[in-house]
Amino acid sequence: MDSLATAQRDLAQYLTQAEAVILPRRLSEKAELAPLAPEIKLRVGVDLGTTYMVLVVTDESGAPLAGEWQFAEVARDGLVVDFVGAVDLLRGMKQRVEQRIGRALTHAASGYPAGVPSVEVRATAHVVEAAGMECSGLIDEPSAANNVLMLREGAVVDVGGGTTGIAVLEDNDVIYVADEPTGGTHFTLVIAGSLGISFEEAEALKTTPDEQPRLLPLVRPVMEKVASITERHIRGRGVNHITMVGGSSAFLGMADVVQNYIGVPTQVVSHPVFVTPLGLALHDPPQ
Ligand SMILES: Nc1ncnc2c1ncn2[C@@H]1O[C@H](COP(=O)(O)OP(=O)(O)OP(=O)(O)O)[C@@H](O)[C@H]1O
Ligand SMILES: [Mg+2]
Repeated sequence: MDSLATAQRDLAQYLTQAEAVILPRRLSEKAELAPLAPEIKLRVGVDLGTTYMVLVVTDESGAPLAGEWQFAEVARDGLVVDFVGAVDLLRGMKQRVEQRIGRALTHAASGYPAGVPSVEVRATAHVVEAAGMECSGLIDEPSAANNVLMLREGAVVDVGGGTTGIAVLEDNDVIYVADEPTGGTHFTLVIAGSLGISFEEAEALKTTPDEQPRLLPLVRPVMEKVASITERHIRGRGVNHITMVGGSSAFLGMADVVQNYIGVPTQVVSHPVFVTPLGLALHDPPQ
């Protein structure tokens, strides 16, 4: 097996492991953990996404140990719009994880959409600190995603709930980042409008894989919008491969639509939703 195939298989395994510790919603569904030994150093990532708030804990090597996720509309385009709600949710998630691993979470790294003014970015750090953790650092989200993907070249496109974030890599370095509105919320709004159903019903339909083939024609224009945003930002930057992450990249056919629109080979990683939160944890120095 060539090294690229090995790397992809390892990445798929890594992301499957992350989902296994983060995804089950009820405590009873989560794998029981023996209390972690105090000498195990932890990394913690907090993603205050537009739609999902995620807290993930890894060991020093980045192996996922525990996590929590929750539907939360506390941030918009990098702005914390519900500070008190965000702190409450995060504190609850932190406590549940602490119970499960038998360790206090004292620090965390967090992120912000690329290009958000630094004053607004601080609000994210304040949420982490008000929830009882020292904010060890902040990093833009597509760069965080690349902590996991470790791409040397090409572009990372993170299609979340509210926005599409883009990072262009060259020789291992992030040379350009951008972030624009258009994400999963827009997919849901289009489905709700087309079918005459509520936002909640449309969200449930959209995230049911069996429903996606019939919904694809409805959301294709939104996917093309994601593609046109991406194309505009990568144009002239020598990108010859696009890697997609973020919850909305999981929609059936996303890679094909983007690839056909832009004409650059495009791939969605398997299990794309927790790539950025994991990358935030990798930004947190182990303690
Ligand atoms: N299987 C799926 N198919 C399609 N969409 C999905 C799926 N799973 C999750 N989503 C969508 O992904 C979005 C959440 O993704 P993610 O957690 O990456 O966003 P976020 O970080 O909260 O938002 P942002 O990055 O824009 O701030 C939601 O709109 C959700 O409906
Ligand atoms: Mg996100």
